[in-house]
Amino acid sequence: MKPVEIAEKTYWAGVNDFETDLFEAIWPLPNGVSYNSYLIADDKIALIDTVKKTFTAEYLEGLKTLLNGRAIDYLIINHIEPDHSGSIDTLFRLFPGIQIAGNAKTQELLNAYYHLPGNFKLVQDGETLSLGGRNLKFIMAPMVHWPETMMTYDEKTKTLFSGDAFGAFGALSSGLFDDEVDLAFYAEETRRYFSNIIAKYSAMVQKAITKLSGTEIKMVASTHGPVYRKDPGYIIDFYRKLSAQETERGVLIAYASMYENTKRMADAVAAGLAEKRVPHKILNVSRTHLSFVFNDAWKYKGIVLGSPTYNTKLFPLMQSLMEMIRNSNLQNRFVGFFGSYGWSGGAMAQFKTLTEKGNLTLVEPAVEVKGGPTEQDFERCRALGLNIADAV
Ligand code: FEO
Repeated sequence: MKPVEIAEKTYWAGVNDFETDLFEAIWPLPNGVSYNSYLIADDKIALIDTVKKTFTAEYLEGLKTLLNGRAIDYLIINHIEPDHSGSIDTLFRLFPGIQIAGNAKTQELLNAYYHLPGNFKLVQDGETLSLGGRNLKFIMAPMVHWPETMMTYDEKTKTLFSGDAFGAFGALSSGLFDDEVDLAFYAEETRRYFSNIIAKYSAMVQKAITKLSGTEIKMVASTHGPVYRKDPGYIIDFYRKLSAQETERGVLIAYASMYENTKRMADAVAAGLAEKRVPHKILNVSRTHLSFVFNDAWKYKGIVLGSPTYNTKLFPLMQSLMEMIRNSNLQNRFVGFFGSYGWSGGAMAQFKTLTEKGNLTLVEPAVEVKGGPTEQDFERCRALGLNIADAV
């Protein structure tokens, strides 16, 4: 995708990645991802963030067209994670006079990752940088997603370059702007990005959104996904809801099953939900990557987890899902459990530790059966489905 002018003398200069299978070597990218970098060509030229190292050649081609022989004066690092800083050392060689702008944490991490010599402009929260025809204001937003994360606000065009905040998975294959793309598609990819990458830092997202409340924002330009020019409030509000853990009425049933016993119990729970006409989704954690399972866990008010006992513990992939739930501090949900065991139990006891503290409410009955479930066991699973339907 070629560079796109998004505002006066302001350009999207990023790249689309359709090559990487796993973001951060863990999260699937069936629809790719974009690394958004922005160039402001005023009296002085500022570049905001770069791209992943493997895309540097393509990135430089776009920059060359935009620069038309001029040099970059400032490289503003809103976020130094290598998906956005991978081209820094090349830029440093090409533009030896470039001044890198960031905060104290940026400087620390820049040195740790790239061992580059000086020429660093230390900026503070609220400080502005003049490009001649406009001022850029720096807004610190620590832990959205790393400690150095900050945002850059163009006071002239009222564009917020927001770093990872307000970002999404999904490459920009059908357009760049919110009025060009399929927003329903990006809503799913936004929630998946948020739940997989940012969820743990929800409190800091809330803080950042509150901090932005007095700022007039005409456009949101994040490091991943679409640029919101038609309705920037939409994506800010969506992130507000996601970080506040506002959920939709519905239930995720996520299960593992080795010999179909736990699977048949999942179907019985679903039957109870269907009876009450409550939206629900059944996902087998052995068949659906946890990235997508967790996306639905973040979406719905109810979660029912099913697992056989495996070596006296939860099935390994279910243990990983439990770890994601804990690590991201998922809250304000109704939760149910079921599963089958053979020669030893253990899964149910581990499941129940999830509802011992915090704000996850256990919905009864917790159904654990030895071997194959009986009609009575299926009836209890159905009752669990009915009960969680009432709860959500
Ligand atoms: Fe897209 Fe936290 O990097």
